[in-house]
Amino acid sequence: MPVVLTPGDAVASHLPVLLDEVLALLSPQPGEVVVDATIGQAGHAVRLLRAIGPEGLLIGLDVDPANLAVARENLSALSVSSDVPLRFRLFHANFAELGEVLELAGVSRVNALLADLGVASSQLNDPQRGLSFQWPGPLDMRLDPRLTVTAADLVNTLAEARLADLIFELGGERFSRKIARAVCRRRIDRRIETTSELSEIVCSALRADPASRKSRIHPATRTFQALRIAVNGELEDLDRLLELAPGVLAGGGRMAVISFHSLEDRRVKQSFSSGSGGGVYQILSKKPIQPSTEEVQANPRSRSAKLRAVARAG
Ligand SMILES: C[S@@+](CC[C@H](N)C(=O)[O-])C[C@H]1O[C@@H](n2cnc3c(N)ncnc32)[C@H](O)[C@@H]1O
Repeated sequence: MPVVLTPGDAVASHLPVLLDEVLALLSPQPGEVVVDATIGQAGHAVRLLRAIGPEGLLIGLDVDPANLAVARENLSALSVSSDVPLRFRLFHANFAELGEVLELAGVSRVNALLADLGVASSQLNDPQRGLSFQWPGPLDMRLDPRLTVTAADLVNTLAEARLADLIFELGGERFSRKIARAVCRRRIDRRIETTSELSEIVCSALRADPASRKSRIHPATRTFQALRIAVNGELEDLDRLLELAPGVLAGGGRMAVISFHSLEDRRVKQSFSSGSGGGVYQILSKKPIQPSTEEVQANPRSRSAKLRAVARAG
């Protein structure tokens, strides 16, 4: 059940991806109701709230209370600096729960909906979350503290074949069997508890040196991605959001989704094109929009971003 957030601790900042492109496609107008389904630290939301003005309403969701706390500070600062207070409501909720959130907010239809998928830099760079092989930390990976199964639980309990399938299907790792075998051998001695242990197991299973210039990406990248997607149920939640969207958008309402890997983008593309075929949507981005070279230079995390958008038929 979604809960309304109260202020909390602040964490490091995050640069919004494809900001101008999102605003151009969503075209938020004064007085409109806008949902930012992954509000993060409100990088996009600050601009959305400014555009809809005091008559509008911004509804923000995030599974991570720490990011929501930063979003609240940023939106409050904007509201205080405006002549008239701006209206926003934040919910600690998964976007798969959007129907319940809108009910709580007393809103039946929205004019614009943004989903900027995946993780924020603040989360990736927080060693305690265990999302990255770059810092030693607990092998956790939960974005939402309401979740109960961690990445350590998965690597220590899944059967070898199931673990291999997961790493292959969600990470696109072609050496998934080797990695799963090495994990299962290691866990006989003791539970695998940290990011460093898992990273070391993957590197030695692949006989890969992360410092070598030959590896374009860190050898554990795909394994970590797969576990993160599984722990957070990312694909199931995205499917649910895409399923809910036509019923939530007002006629003429716009929806934009930024995805960061092909498993997500494929789902978004498929949902938008079948909605367009069925007369539910009009496609606003014929091809996915990607960041400019300048944006990638300024914000390397944006390099794999793809933005797609639709408008709800009237
Ligand atoms: C890429 S960041 C969004 C950044 C935001 N647009 C900004 O500019 O500050 C993604 C955010 O979505 C949140 N998130 C991930 N999956 C979610 C879900 N299923 N429902 C709600 N929030 C989710 C993450 O916790 C993270 O804060």
